[in-house]
Amino acid sequence: MKQLIIINGPNLNLLGKREPEIYGSETFEDYLNGLKSKYSNTQIEYYQSNIEGELIDKLQEVGFSYDGIILNAAAYTHTSVGIGDAVKAIETPVVEVHISNTFSREEFRHQSYISPNAKGIVIGFGLKSYDLAIESLMN
Ligand code: DQA
Repeated sequence: MKQLIIINGPNLNLLGKREPEIYGSETFEDYLNGLKSKYSNTQIEYYQSNIEGELIDKLQEVGFSYDGIILNAAAYTHTSVGIGDAVKAIETPVVEVHISNTFSREEFRHQSYISPNAKGIVIGFGLKSYDLAIESLMN
């Protein structure tokens, strides 16, 4: 059985009530339940932290044994050399995900420290971006 983990960064614990016009009105927990039943042959774990170092610790912890990481580093995407370095350092493929189309938003969101070392990127499909990222790791 494939072992995947979704790692969400800062403020994504507020999905459902945070700027719903951008991020939708569904909580991540509800969405995750749907994903788990859709991919019932896959082990999908979930981790969220608002703290940069905790996200790096988690990437290091899973990054040599899991089959795939779906990473939405949220605002740290655009600022964190440390998370970018962690993605480079580990062996497990990382798919970078964003709910919103970061390229249609402010210019500071166009920069990503994750993308250069990601296996691929899924941006702008709402929560469906996570589903597409999992699908990409299936084959
Ligand atoms: C985000 C986009 C980021 O720019 C923003 O800081 C987030 C969420 C997204 O999923 O659309 O917190 O990563």
